[in-house]
Amino acid sequence: MIWTIHIVALLCSLLGLRPCAGEVPRQGAFITYSEVSRSRDELDPGSIAAVALVSTYGQIRLRLRRDWAPKACEAIAAMAVGTSRECSGCSFYRHEPVPLNWGVNGFSGPPYALLQGGLPGMLSKVKMENAKLLPVIWAWKLGMEQVMQIGRGTAAFIGDTSDFFIGTADHTEWGGAFTVFAEVVAEDMAGVVSNIPVEPYRNSTDSYNITTRWLLQSIPFTLQPLRLDELSTGAV
Ligand SMILES: *[C@@H]1O[C@H](CO)[C@@H](O)[C@H](O)[C@H]1NC(C)=O
Ligand SMILES: *[C@@H]1O[C@H](CO)[C@@H](O)[C@H](O)[C@H]1NC(C)=O
Repeated sequence: MIWTIHIVALLCSLLGLRPCAGEVPRQGAFITYSEVSRSRDELDPGSIAAVALVSTYGQIRLRLRRDWAPKACEAIAAMAVGTSRECSGCSFYRHEPVPLNWGVNGFSGPPYALLQGGLPGMLSKVKMENAKLLPVIWAWKLGMEQVMQIGRGTAAFIGDTSDFFIGTADHTEWGGAFTVFAEVVAEDMAGVVSNIPVEPYRNSTDSYNITTRWLLQSIPFTLQPLRLDELSTGAV
């Protein structure tokens, strides 16, 4: 929605068309657009505190944890400040609910309590970054002596891919098997993640007899970089 207004404003300014003036409050739109375009293009990926995944359901703000996975954070921040923040092909394609008896007697699915998506435009795949997965000396050099586990509201990249997921329950059963790189702002877990549909879906059973659920209609999103001040005021 916000981007649509910005695009309308941009076209109006390029074409100088009068009818556009009625579409959006002209002054406001130009100020907003110029501020956004200038600040976004000048942003240094290192100054990005969070990346928002913006879909029709709202924005899911991922607070980057460079202390957990510096390279993964760098990769997604760079994508969010560059032209690839339009994120062609980016979508959520898997959303498995939290089953009622989650955790009871160690029950951990199916279904598997996660929201998963992909960033196909990411140029280099995100390498594994978790103390558990690295030779001790590397983990120590990167300051990652701690094994990071997936909890409700943390985001992690999968293997050496550009696909990631957000835990919607605590996943101690997965240990440190993923690159945990961000925390979802609590408000967005409650107000956005929980509103993303889990149906309709199809089952898929693999050769290990593990059955996973895949959304029939994936949900596209774009990326928006957020500085620390924008994140704390919520003014985005
Ligand atoms: C998926 O598999 C589960 C477990 O076997 C079953 O209860 C459910 O009805 C299946 N759903 C679909 C859409 O096939
Ligand atoms: C596969 O898993 C289902 C339950 O998830 C079980 O009922 C079935 O016996 C399993 N099949 C094999 C071949 O292990």
